[in-house]
Amino acid sequence: MIPLDRYARWPDTLDALARTYLDGSDFKAYSAIPGPERLSQLKNLLEKPISQFTPVNDAYFRARWAEVLRTVHPASGTTLLEIASGDADMIPQVMARDDPGSRYITANANRPLTASLRRKVKDLALEVVVIEDDAATISRHLAPESVDVVAFQHGVNDVLQAILCDREGVDTVQSDWMETLPTMIEIVRREIDQNTFDANVRPSFLSLLQSLLAVLRQDGVVVMSHYMFQLDLDWGYPPELWQDLIPIVREWVKDLPECREVVFEGFDPQWWLFLARE
Ligand SMILES: C[S@@+](CC[C@H](N)C(=O)[O-])C[C@H]1O[C@@H](n2cnc3c(N)ncnc32)[C@H](O)[C@@H]1O
Repeated sequence: MIPLDRYARWPDTLDALARTYLDGSDFKAYSAIPGPERLSQLKNLLEKPISQFTPVNDAYFRARWAEVLRTVHPASGTTLLEIASGDADMIPQVMARDDPGSRYITANANRPLTASLRRKVKDLALEVVVIEDDAATISRHLAPESVDVVAFQHGVNDVLQAILCDREGVDTVQSDWMETLPTMIEIVRREIDQNTFDANVRPSFLSLLQSLLAVLRQDGVVVMSHYMFQLDLDWGYPPELWQDLIPIVREWVKDLPECREVVFEGFDPQWWLFLARE
């Protein structure tokens, strides 16, 4: 597997970053892991599909998103729109610490996950706006050119899966996401096997992206990140799609005249895609 990141960059700084980006009890749990074990967890996190969930993951991903935000929008007072956050709070956790008073908006359709996210972010020092709707309808909720960054933090796969479920009448709004995941994977598998995945997903995804580009400021950036969970592979996710999701989407977005790819050093194109408005 192409590593998510260069392991050697992190051993010297991860402990300090964990202190910055984890809250008291999470930092205590992080510190309780012996040093060599922490580093071995970090190496696995970067170099293998993810199968362990520990405070090391939280410290790394928060520190990494801090780098992303410093890179794509160094000014303070950022307005960021996350798509398909689920209940993953790594981006608002970073914004609250590095840019207090900034504005975090999420378009997240699934009700149980949205409720869980609200609980996680309720005490953070930033403005949080939760849009419980399909991101394709974003123009009903946000003004044109009102957002500095649009982020898909491991969210592209979820959007594609929801598009396919929608076509087949499988509920992804009220249902338990993890209980529905085997059905999603089955649909994705079938679409790949029958060679219909591209035709059935790409137009809806590109149309959604066009709606998002319309709410992005002229100098704004769309950030897409991906990494692999081992569980999805074990449950039959087509490995070629799971691994190459970003390269596949990169080919798709070449059809959109509204955006162009921009490249930032230190972010491997296998796992990251950055788009600027044209
Ligand atoms: C498993 S969670 C995502 C978790 C997070 N991105 C991560 O992997 O760390 C999947 C979420 O994507 C959301 N989602 C998928 N397509 C969406 C869309 N078009 N608009 C809004 N939310 C969407 C679902 O509603 C659900 O809350």
